[in-house]
Amino acid sequence: MEKYYLTTPIYYANSRPHVGSAYTTIVCDVIARYKRMCGYEVAYLTGTDEHGVNIERAAEKLSITPQQLVDKNQQIFRDLWKLLGIQYTDFIRTTSPEHARAVQELIRLTRQKSPQAIEKRRYEGRYCIYDNLYVSDSAEPAHCPICNRPAELISEENYFFRLSDYQQKLLDLYERQPDFVQPDFRFNEVKSFVQAGLKDVSISRMSIKWGIPWPDDPDHVFYVWYDALTSYMSGIGFADPDPARSGKFERFWPADVHMIGKEIIRFHAVYWPAFLMAADLPLPKRIHAHGWLLFEQEKMSKSKGNVAYPEPIVKVLGNDALRYYLLRETVFGQDGNFSREALITRYNADLANGLGNLASRTLTMIADYLHGTFSIDEWDAAVKSNLQLIRIANSAAAQVKKHYNRFDFSSALEAIWSVIGEVDQFLTVEKPWTKAKNPEDRQSLAVVLYAAAETLRFVCVLAHPVVPEATQKIWAALAQPVAVNDVRIDELIWGELKPGTRISKPEAVFPRVDKKETMERVEAMEQEIRGEGTKAPAAESSAAAATPAATGGTSAAPAGAPTAAAPPDGAAKIAIDDFAKVELRVGQVKSAEKVAGADKLLKLMVDIGDEVRQIVAGIAVSYQPDELVGRKVVIVANLAPRKLRGVESNGMIVAASTAEGKPVLCTFTEEVPVGAKLK
Ligand code: MSP
Repeated sequence: MEKYYLTTPIYYANSRPHVGSAYTTIVCDVIARYKRMCGYEVAYLTGTDEHGVNIERAAEKLSITPQQLVDKNQQIFRDLWKLLGIQYTDFIRTTSPEHARAVQELIRLTRQKSPQAIEKRRYEGRYCIYDNLYVSDSAEPAHCPICNRPAELISEENYFFRLSDYQQKLLDLYERQPDFVQPDFRFNEVKSFVQAGLKDVSISRMSIKWGIPWPDDPDHVFYVWYDALTSYMSGIGFADPDPARSGKFERFWPADVHMIGKEIIRFHAVYWPAFLMAADLPLPKRIHAHGWLLFEQEKMSKSKGNVAYPEPIVKVLGNDALRYYLLRETVFGQDGNFSREALITRYNADLANGLGNLASRTLTMIADYLHGTFSIDEWDAAVKSNLQLIRIANSAAAQVKKHYNRFDFSSALEAIWSVIGEVDQFLTVEKPWTKAKNPEDRQSLAVVLYAAAETLRFVCVLAHPVVPEATQKIWAALAQPVAVNDVRIDELIWGELKPGTRISKPEAVFPRVDKKETMERVEAMEQEIRGEGTKAPAAESSAAAATPAATGGTSAAPAGAPTAAAPPDGAAKIAIDDFAKVELRVGQVKSAEKVAGADKLLKLMVDIGDEVRQIVAGIAVSYQPDELVGRKVVIVANLAPRKLRGVESNGMIVAASTAEGKPVLCTFTEEVPVGAKLK
C-alpha cells in the first residue's frame, strides 16, 4: 500500500485555538481523508509547540508553571480537534520526553555528519518572543516583521547553525525540486530570500530555561524553532527506542507535505531543509503555504478583539458547515475573509437548499413512489439510458479528483455542487411526481429516480472528505454496504447502486436556519468564550467585587495587554502596571437605540469628556434605550474598535452579571464629572 505523510504546524500552546488554527487542521483532515479514499495509508501529525519564552512569561503572569499552562491548553486543542472530527493519527507535544530525545539526537547526528555546521559564539541582536524570530543582528531597537511588536535585546553566548554555508545547497534543491514550495509565487519569495545571502542562525539560548537542554551544555536550551521543526520527525517515532515507533518513522519519513501558513515559510523552506541536510536526513517533499483567514479584512488578533472561535459555529450549525464554508469560500493559498454572516448564507444556500434538499426530495420520492427500491430491469434500463446526467457525473468526478490533487478545494466543491444543480434541474424537467401518477410511466419514473439517487451517491463520495457527517448520513439512507470513507474515490463507477437496495428517507441533514437568530446564538457563545479568556485577570484583580459582564464592543483583552496568553481559570494576580493599561472613564449616555437584527444589542452614543463615542453593548435584555439617556456609566476607553453586527463599537461599558446572567450597569451614587478617569 502506498503511504502518505502530512503535517500541520504545531500550534503555540499559549492560547486557545481560533478559526485560523482550525483552518490548517481542517484542510489537512480533508487531504488525509481524500488520500485514504485513494487507497493510501496516511499518517497525519498535529500537535502543540510548548516551549519558548512567551510560554514561560505567560505562565509567570498567571503564577502557574509553564508545564501547567501547556498541559491545560494542549487539551483544549485536542478537544477541539475531536469536536471537528479531525482524524489525525499522531499528536506530538514538544514537552514530551520522546520529543526531547529526538531533538538531542538530531543535533548529535548533525555534529557527527557535519562537524562544521555548529559553532559556539557570542550573539547580540533583537528577538521577537511572540513569533520566536531573530529580528536583527544588532542591538538597535527593532520591530518584529510578523507581529510588529518591539523585539527584545539578546546578548549572550549561543550555539550557531552555519546557515550561510547552505545557500548553494538550498538553491540546488529548489532547482532539483521545482514544486518544493507551493504556491509558485511563495516559492519565488523564498528563492529571492536565499539568493540575497543567508546569515547564520543561533539555535540555542542561555537566558531562558523553558526549553530542551543542549545535550552536553545544559546551561543552553534549544531555540524553539529548532525544537519545533524536529516535531515533524519525533511525532512519528524518530530516535524512539520502541521499534514500533521507529519503524513508523522509517516507513513514513520524509513527509509528503508540511502544510503551513504563509508567515512561517522561511522556517520551513530555508531553515528546516538546511538542518536536515546537515544531519544527512531525507528532506520533506513539499512545503505548502496557505494564506491567512482574515476577519473583516483584518488579521485576527486578541488585541483587536476580532478573533472568531470555531466551537460556536460547530455547536449551532454543525461540523460540516464550518468545514464546507472554510474550503469553499477561500481560494486555497490566498488570504480569505471569515464572516459568520457569509457562513450562514452559504449554509442555507449550498447545504440546506443544495445537498440537503436534493437528498431529501430524491430519497423521499423513492420511498413514496417506488417502495424504496429498484428492480433489476429498472436498474438495467437506467444504466443503459445514455442520460446526459451520467456523462455530467463522470466528467465532474474526473475534475474533482484533479482539483483535490492540486489542493484546489474551492474548485473541487464548485464542481461537486454544479452536479447537485444538474440533478435538481434534471428532476424539474423530468417531473417524477407527474410520472408517479401514471402506472404506465413506472419504468421511466424508476430510471429518473435511479439516475438522481445514483448521482447523489457519486456526490456523497466526492464530497465526503469535506462534509463527512452529512454524506455519511445520506449514505446510510442509501443503504450502502461499505462505509463511504472506505469507497475508492479514484475508482468511482456510475451504476454501483445495486437493484434491490432498500433505500430509506434520510434524516434532515442540514435544516434551514434563520439568519438573525443563528447570528445571535453564535455571537452569544463567542462572547462567552472571550469572557472565559479574560475572566481571571479582569475579575480577580480589579477592585470591583462582581465579575464584569461582557457588555461592550469587545470583551477581549484590553488593548496593550499581552496578546499571547489566554489566561486559564484561577485567581491570577496582575501587577498595578497591568491594571494601569486599562483606561476606565466616566461616560454619559447621550442617545441609545436598538441595533437592527440583534435582540440583545444597543447602540449608544456616550460622552466621555473630550469626545462622544459610539459603543455597542449587549444590554438590551436589561435596559430600554430611553431609560439610559443621561445616565452616567463606566467605560473601558482604550479598547480597539470592533464591529458587532456590522456596527462599529469604540469601547466597552462595564457591568456586573446577575445570577441569571442579566447585565447590571456600573454607576455612581455621588456626582462625578463626565470624562473622569477611574484608578
Ligand atoms: N508554533 C509555530 C509553528 C511551528 S511548526 C514547526 C506557530 N504556531 S502558531 O500557533 O502561531 O501558528 C500555527 C499555524 O496557524 C500557522 O501555520 C499559522 O499560519 C496558522 N494560523 C494562525 N492564524 C491564522 C489565521 N488567521 N489564518 C490562517 N492560518 C492561521 O507558528
